[in-house]
Amino acid sequence: EKGGFDHFMLKEIFEQPRSIADCLRGRLKADEGYLKLGGIREYANRLENADRIIIVACGTSWHAGMVAEYLFEEFCRIPVEVEYASEFRYRNPVIKEGDVVIAISQSGETADTMAAIELAKSKGAIIFGVCNVVGSSISRITHEGAYTHAGPEIGVASTKAFTAQLTVLAMMALQVAFKRGTLPLTQYNQMLIELETIPSKVEKALQLNDQVKYISELFKDARNFLYLGRGYNFPVALEGALKLKEISYIHAEGYPAAEMKHGPIALIDEEMPVVFIATRDKSYEKIVSNIQEVRARKGRVIAIVTEGDTVIPEMAEFVIEVPATHEALMPLVSVIPLQLLSYHIAVMRGCNVDQPRNLAKSVTVE
Ligand code: M6R
Repeated sequence: EKGGFDHFMLKEIFEQPRSIADCLRGRLKADEGYLKLGGIREYANRLENADRIIIVACGTSWHAGMVAEYLFEEFCRIPVEVEYASEFRYRNPVIKEGDVVIAISQSGETADTMAAIELAKSKGAIIFGVCNVVGSSISRITHEGAYTHAGPEIGVASTKAFTAQLTVLAMMALQVAFKRGTLPLTQYNQMLIELETIPSKVEKALQLNDQVKYISELFKDARNFLYLGRGYNFPVALEGALKLKEISYIHAEGYPAAEMKHGPIALIDEEMPVVFIATRDKSYEKIVSNIQEVRARKGRVIAIVTEGDTVIPEMAEFVIEVPATHEALMPLVSVIPLQLLSYHIAVMRGCNVDQPRNLAKSVTVE
């Protein structure tokens, strides 16, 4: 059942080239300029004409929502708010008739996310679901939606469901951008082509497994970890930190790299591993200076970089090279080594990776 892997988590990490391809299947044909999410039909124009989008989710799904915020704002020019479902439901949020809500949930059973949906629905919002489990409660209470089609995810730590969520959300944003005319056609077509290459790039990123395992051995006894990223890689930093804490029980925090100066920098000394997600994008120069700041305080830098980077290898203790892609799709690739890092560290520490203590696969009580 684990297909020759020691744990479901590892199997699911390695399934990602296929699960992402499954998610794209029938929905994207880049050479024909074709993109369509079949589940979004009747209410498609509500999404396209939304004045704002509210995303509700928890945990890893909330991280996918953070990436979606950047996607929808950049490509569709629609303001987005990403909310923890638990906070949203209890704070008397402002929801107007016709507001659009996207609820993201792997299991489709998360209690807080369901309650947030019910609340928004009662105020007249249109709800789109992004769920993995077909026929789950959330997929039934939403108006429309798109399944992630990642297949059953058994490991408590979400991996392939996360990348499938990112894939669906990217398709959703591109579909809306096309209809709204907010993305020039050449760029739109370029994005479709790029999206189609993601499974093979993820496949390539998985070849880093041995290198990541080697690095894991050196850091497995660390007591803390910091994860830093900017732009589209900021949510990836959050996700990397969550993966590490939930399965290895090492304290880890994710931050937007620039926020480091506003507090976390005080933690940096020669014992602090800092994982930078520093692939080539608009904020590259900025993150390079953040790496230098950490080095100046003797922090131990592990950097995820784009293949062929010649600058960061000069300053980081370890660099992990991932294939280049458009920055908006980079989380799909840059998260892979972070999933592997948390996995190997957890195994080396003797933790139960598939069923970490105190956690359940779906949180059906608030
Ligand atoms: O099933 P959901 O996507 O609604 O679950 C949300 C969170 O409980 C979930 O992502 C959790 O944070 C995972 N254990 C993360 O790996």
